[in-house]
Amino acid sequence: MRVALLANLKKNAPHWQGMPEDQWADLDSEGTIDALVSAIRSGGYECEFLEGDESILDTIRSYKPDICFNICESHTGDAREAQVPALLEKLRIPYTGSKVLTLALALDKPMTKRILYWHELPTPAFQTYESADEPLNDDLHFPLFVKPSREGTGMGVSAKSVVHNEKELYDQVKFTLEKYQQTVLVEQFIEGREVTVGFVGNLTKPVARRLPENHTSPRIQAGLRFFPPMEVDLKPYLETDVVYSNRLKVALAEELTYLCPAPLDDQTVNYLQWLAAAVFRVTGALDVSRIDFRLDANDHWKPYILEINPLPGLSVGISDIVIEAAADGLSHTGLVLLILETALRRYGMW
Ligand SMILES: Nc1ncnc2c1ncn2[C@@H]1O[C@H](COP(=O)(O)OP(=O)(O)O)[C@@H](O)[C@H]1O
Ligand SMILES: [Mg+2]
Repeated sequence: MRVALLANLKKNAPHWQGMPEDQWADLDSEGTIDALVSAIRSGGYECEFLEGDESILDTIRSYKPDICFNICESHTGDAREAQVPALLEKLRIPYTGSKVLTLALALDKPMTKRILYWHELPTPAFQTYESADEPLNDDLHFPLFVKPSREGTGMGVSAKSVVHNEKELYDQVKFTLEKYQQTVLVEQFIEGREVTVGFVGNLTKPVARRLPENHTSPRIQAGLRFFPPMEVDLKPYLETDVVYSNRLKVALAEELTYLCPAPLDDQTVNYLQWLAAAVFRVTGALDVSRIDFRLDANDHWKPYILEINPLPGLSVGISDIVIEAAADGLSHTGLVLLILETALRRYGMW
């Protein structure tokens, strides 16, 4: 069977004047691409890397893959992660992971939060800003957190994202609007621990409008393989970064202490897994995801959902879900093949 690995290499990304210095923090290195190709080949598949830009209309027609392993973030546009899957749908070629609607949705944090709110899933209260002169909603109280709506890898996230008064709020909103040229998300700041939950699989029950009340019910997690949650120990950086900033995620990634499994009791892990399954379900995600949480130090460590990452990073030894899988005895190769085979099974090809 022939698998095309579709991704966007950092070195192939376009450059333009005035673009933010962290513009391509999400894209992949050649090392990651090589590791993914070898992982797929070691499962007995043929595999080639194809750059996930408009050239795939030609390269896919000539390579003729049976399935694509898609991790494209793409370059521009408010639904950029959905662009390559949209082309694949047109070409009627199967691909791993979530589809067009979910990828477009998950890239937009406020849109995702509206859905989480509707399902009564806990996510910090929020407001969006299209310009820096809009009044603050009454239900939001300082400290607040300011970030771009449609970026990842901590882009636009630094100690300055935490704001304590209107002056800091409006300065940071203005700065973020100008730098990232997109709607700005302002959330209640959740002081506490940083935990992320990764998993592979698909729910075996049909999607319901509401989730069962009983959140310990194994029913709604059936079909998902959860890895042990990971905590990023931010204590050494509370003075400098406060949160899991772009600086920590990129420049200091190798220095950080990742606690995996995170020191959490079984009940908390169960609840986080239930919430993660619920987010996966209500956003219509497929095959793999990682959900980011903050646990509120001021409210009995109540978990808040920050976002769903339906295309979690897959860099060897660095990406969160890779570390989580390793803690569960699954190598990088094992993780990649599990994602591929989960998709093949979903398409009835395995
Ligand atoms: N409301 C919030 N309260 C506290 N910290 C936050 C909040 N939102 C984001 N953060 C911090 O910023 C980091 C990045 O935010 P996140 O929404 O996960 O975006 P990204 O797509 O960049 O990962 C989080 O891991 C967390 O440390
Ligand atoms: Mg995140």
